[in-house]
Amino acid sequence: MSQAAVTAVCAVDLAVTDLAAARAFFTDVWNLRVVADEGGICYLRAGGPAFYALSLRAASDARSELLRVVLDAADRGAVDRLYEQVSREGVATDGRPRSLATPGGGYGFGCKDPEGRSYAIVCETPTHAATHGPDTPTKLSHVNLNCRDNDASWGFLSRALGFKLSDQTRHFRFIRCNADHHSLVLGFNDNANLNHIAFEMPDLEAVMRGVGRMRDHGHPVEWGPGRHGPGNNVFAYFCGPGELPLEYTSEMQQVPADFQPSKRPEDWIWLPGRLDHWGLTPGPSARVKAAQERFQFAGDGYKLD
Ligand SMILES: [Fe+2]
Repeated sequence: MSQAAVTAVCAVDLAVTDLAAARAFFTDVWNLRVVADEGGICYLRAGGPAFYALSLRAASDARSELLRVVLDAADRGAVDRLYEQVSREGVATDGRPRSLATPGGGYGFGCKDPEGRSYAIVCETPTHAATHGPDTPTKLSHVNLNCRDNDASWGFLSRALGFKLSDQTRHFRFIRCNADHHSLVLGFNDNANLNHIAFEMPDLEAVMRGVGRMRDHGHPVEWGPGRHGPGNNVFAYFCGPGELPLEYTSEMQQVPADFQPSKRPEDWIWLPGRLDHWGLTPGPSARVKAAQERFQFAGDGYKLD
């Protein structure tokens, strides 16, 4: 039987130290919309069909944490096969796939990866009619994860969850699970914390207006606007509530299923003083670099019930 693969990186679940401030930021400034508010957990959707893109709950201790990254699969058969693939890796799971009682519901299970990060793998979650406002993020674009052991994380994500390599530089592996050039990015680091969470905007203009809107609300751009090499996507990075590292992006490269890395890692080199195609701005600020190592995964985020 062929390998089962996830089909999207659809949401992140966060525990935050100031829930009211985070909720106000993500609705009033980042432009997500509350779709469910249940059991102390606030679920926020983007403009696309995914039931939600971000959930927020109050942290149980004094620090904000990432609970899990939520991955979509096609159907129950795919989820069952993904569970078997994950189980062969010897990582922790929260048990066999089953119907979930969360507002989005669906059928799925939770697991860890070799570096202790947590994932939910789900199918049959409800969808919405798309309601794209001009300044509404369309979906979660990608999650960038720092890795102490990039090879171990990449091995797990490719073997167990079916991710494919789109490009690799000296600093990152860019990996995909659909036509987007990347939905996860794995860094070569000395920690396994969150690097950043990126939301897709409808177009380049929306990213630029987002830079202004964030600045108006006290969140100046910390890197960008610019256009990345791998993925060719437009970017602008910010420190959100509690220094959460966030990115608005658009125009992600679309690739065919058999896409192969276009260059060797050592071939991704910028001209002196440049870190992107446009060269409008210097590289990331010291503030966002610090934020990109600050948020850990909670130890029990793989437990979905
Ligand atoms: Fe990014």
